[in-house]
Amino acid sequence: MTINRIYFGDNLPILKRISDESIDLIYIDPPFNTGKDQITVQIKTIKSKKGDRHGFQGNKYETRILGKKSYSDSYGDSYIESFLRPRLQEAYRILAPHGTLYFHIDYRESHYCKILLDSIFGRECFLNEIIWAYDYGAKQKSKWPTKHDNILVYVKDPKNYVFNAHAIDREPYMAPGLVGPEKANRGKLPTDTWWHTIVGTNSKERTGYPTQKPLGVINRIIQASSNEGDTVLDFFAGSGTIGEGCISLNRKFILVDSNPVALEVMAKRFSGIPKIEWIGYDPKPFQAQKAKIGQKINQDFQLLASAASYYRLEIESSDVEWENSPFNWVLDLPPAAKGKIGRNLITTWFASRGFSIKQGTGKDSFLTVNGYRCATKFSTLWSGGFYKFQQIRDEDYDFLICLGISPFESHCWVFRKSYVLQHATYQHRGAKGSEYWLSINPETPPDWARNHGGILASTYSVFQRLLARN
Ligand SMILES: C[S@@+](CC[C@H](N)C(=O)[O-])C[C@H]1O[C@@H](n2cnc3c(N)ncnc32)[C@H](O)[C@@H]1O
Repeated sequence: MTINRIYFGDNLPILKRISDESIDLIYIDPPFNTGKDQITVQIKTIKSKKGDRHGFQGNKYETRILGKKSYSDSYGDSYIESFLRPRLQEAYRILAPHGTLYFHIDYRESHYCKILLDSIFGRECFLNEIIWAYDYGAKQKSKWPTKHDNILVYVKDPKNYVFNAHAIDREPYMAPGLVGPEKANRGKLPTDTWWHTIVGTNSKERTGYPTQKPLGVINRIIQASSNEGDTVLDFFAGSGTIGEGCISLNRKFILVDSNPVALEVMAKRFSGIPKIEWIGYDPKPFQAQKAKIGQKINQDFQLLASAASYYRLEIESSDVEWENSPFNWVLDLPPAAKGKIGRNLITTWFASRGFSIKQGTGKDSFLTVNGYRCATKFSTLWSGGFYKFQQIRDEDYDFLICLGISPFESHCWVFRKSYVLQHATYQHRGAKGSEYWLSINPETPPDWARNHGGILASTYSVFQRLLARN
């Protein structure tokens, strides 16, 4: 039985064929008013030696244009009244009585769209305006740089709609010190302001589609406003982010897009996913071939494939853990930049706790804390659940401060130099003399590190104690 559908074509006639009140959740992210004309082309992809598109197994495909349609994407009434209104009226008709619509737009259009949506749903059905804030890209100097999108949320019935507060991923408090450890550990329910990175150039979720939205934002919407087994519709589907969210969260989906490139991206993204009906489009040219029935896969290949899936899991699980961390941007920095950030964070934290702290000048990378020279080491948590503090040397300092950052926790250890060199692992003889490293799992630290730190808050008393003994 097919449970998911992907349509190629203009969404208006397709919406008209969907039954009344049959959709539980609608998310749309229509093209913003860019001032350019948008042209939709009806095409057919056929296998051809002269083709300029490359599918799998070296096959070439040619695109035949069946017809063209265009609409003006310029500012003003035509976009709102001629383009959006009839589509939103259909959306309202097919939305279930307990259903919700998320309408993703930007600051230039959001006010006009609010008025339009009020006129279709009624003002009392307006639930929220979500601000999705990101901090990416060039910043204008002549006005406040605009770094957010607006998501208008409407329900059909303000007295009866789905909102699963318990299913929403909680996020860390901005000032965990003010709420106590238990609450800080549990995190808080997100508000209507969502900080989330855009889909980065090197992100593993990236499909190459220019307006692709991040799964972190989309999944939160699906989790909050639908239940397992529900049907979710996106009739400006683009790269199909809603579809991917629905697959992982056990919802059914209907996607529509009129751009052949979007369909090609979705064909690749959903390659191998069963139970999808493609309407008006043949995805096969762009989907990976399965092994033919009876084809023998040799043992070496199988061995490599299972090893690769193991490594992929290792890498992916660590990425996922870091997804909403305020520190995820640190992960990809080169070692020298990480070292500097570590030093600055240690300086900030120790200064905030009343220590007298000075950074070295020029090439001197040591800190002076209450008159003692301190070397610093920084590590983010490795996927195996441990920190690795590297390139520790026997140089001119008294204490070594090691700062570790996990996705939602920070740890710190302080050691006298002579003590730590007894326990560290000898690495090799580097250009600057012998080098050592430490590996510490914060959940199960080795005995010799136990009284020397742990969660960041514990570092204060450790350092006081070590200084008192010196
Ligand atoms: C901003 S993009 C959506 C991106 C999507 N949310 C994602 O994560 O990839 C808007 C999409 O609407 C599609 N579109 C524009 N007009 C359309 C129409 N009349 N019918 C169907 N799709 C349309 C465009 O082709 C484009 O892919």
